[in-house]
Amino acid sequence: MQKTSVLFVCLGNICRSPLAEAALRRAAETAGLAIEIDSAGTGDWHLGLPPDRRAQAIAEANGIDIGGLRARQVVIEDFDRFEHIFALDTQNLADLMRMRPDAARAQVSLLLDHVPGRSGEPVHDPFYGGEADFEAAWADVSEAAEALVRQMAAQARS
Ligand code: 4NP
Repeated sequence: MQKTSVLFVCLGNICRSPLAEAALRRAAETAGLAIEIDSAGTGDWHLGLPPDRRAQAIAEANGIDIGGLRARQVVIEDFDRFEHIFALDTQNLADLMRMRPDAARAQVSLLLDHVPGRSGEPVHDPFYGGEADFEAAWADVSEAAEALVRQMAAQARS
């Protein structure tokens, strides 16, 4: 069976999507599920930079080192490289839908649409916020990662 592949996309690829990448990596590892996981941004302001220090801190507080990640921008090849592309908020989703080639392999959707009861909700941008906003983003992406692993594990069994 082909390994499932997932790309998380936010605006800068320095706060939310690196956290989502870290959360899914851990949830998949715990569940014994092999998934190719990456993250990217729709914007280009932070290319090549590590995650925001506040994102690194919340990951570190949860036992995960994301300091080795580097920001990159979404490229058109991502729409064929990944099976799933999850947008962290509705603006990212709209930008991705505009970019998506008609014949693309990737299914593009809003991340929290995959969490029961949270359809349509964004993971709010914590960049201009404080520690509590990063904690909220971490809680959101962790909840989403658990839901994705449950769904993907069920698919792998079927
Ligand atoms: P992210 O957060 O999209 O979660 O990585 C942001 C990072 C940078 C900016 C905005 C949001 N910015 O405007 O530079």
